[in-house]
Amino acid sequence: MCTQSIPPLNLACLVGGTPVYRISDPFAPPGRGFWAKLEALNPGGIKDRAALHIVERARARGDLAPGAMIVESTSGTFGLGLALAGIVYGHPVTVVGDPGMEALIHRLLTAYGVRVDTVTEPHPVGGWQQARLDRVAALLAEHPGAYCPNQYDNPDNVDAYARLADELIEQLGHVDVLVCSVGTGGHSAGVTKALRRHNPRFSLVGVDAIGSTIFGQPSRPRLMRGLGSSVHPRNVAHEEFDEIHWVAPHEAVWACRTLASTHYVTGGWSVGAVTVVASWLARTMPADTRIAAIFPDGPARYYTTVYDDTYCAEHGLMGRPPADEPDEIKTPQEAEVSRWTRMVKR
Ligand SMILES: Cc1ncc(COP(=O)(O)O)c(C=O)c1O
Repeated sequence: MCTQSIPPLNLACLVGGTPVYRISDPFAPPGRGFWAKLEALNPGGIKDRAALHIVERARARGDLAPGAMIVESTSGTFGLGLALAGIVYGHPVTVVGDPGMEALIHRLLTAYGVRVDTVTEPHPVGGWQQARLDRVAALLAEHPGAYCPNQYDNPDNVDAYARLADELIEQLGHVDVLVCSVGTGGHSAGVTKALRRHNPRFSLVGVDAIGSTIFGQPSRPRLMRGLGSSVHPRNVAHEEFDEIHWVAPHEAVWACRTLASTHYVTGGWSVGAVTVVASWLARTMPADTRIAAIFPDGPARYYTTVYDDTYCAEHGLMGRPPADEPDEIKTPQEAEVSRWTRMVKR
């Protein structure tokens, strides 16, 4: 929590209060577009909010003793948030990553004083994510008193986003449609709680990665990180989603690069995927629909993937824009999707 408004500034005061930015042409014709909430402008990204709140609540409840160790599984952004929370509240932090963790994130975490423990083999069923969770369990057993924030199932990860919702209401007046990428489910659930109270006609559109099992598709190895999951986090508020879209890596790359060259704002896989969906909604819904999309982080972490021509060429991701319309399925069992696909839930 931010408790000081005069210097010296509390580090926590740098979290939140991020701007919204209008995304339009060439994603939508003149007069249409959507509002992007630029969470990259937090010191570490969107998960600074979750990490600070979870650590504050755990300390208040006595689950996390002063100076005790924090251990968590993360592919990156939440690790940056925990690094910040560890410095603010004086806790050593260990994050369990896998070989897909970008070098930039690994080095930054180390610079922020975090110990990075890397698993070397995926779990035969639950993939890298389950392998990381198993390693966290082993570390907790080795270190009595250590605390695991468990961002996948901890309801504080949802409640952490109440302020983000308040900011959107302050900035936009009201929100008709919210477009969120889904990983742990934390920010989609947390922001929706408040926005639905404020506007009963509100709808939530979830964006997942192809190959993610969150919304009932089979789990496959995935290039995209941040959004998507090979396990089923309890924080995903399934009942809140009005529709789900799955987006493929080449579609996210096209959107990120087009955003960069036309709007000087961009991010990673989740920003690209959310943009594919939010811009389609902006093109097809009534022009006065107020659409907000959450951009969880910035581009830096993706300089060796989304913004690397060699990587993109090797993975067949270059110059392949999404179709004008998504494919449609009625249930997740109807087909295994491999490109942008929509499923309406209600
Ligand atoms: C870059 C990025 N985008 C999107 C997400 C998904 O957010 P959530 O876990 O709140 O569903 C994450 C989660 O780690 C992330 O790191």
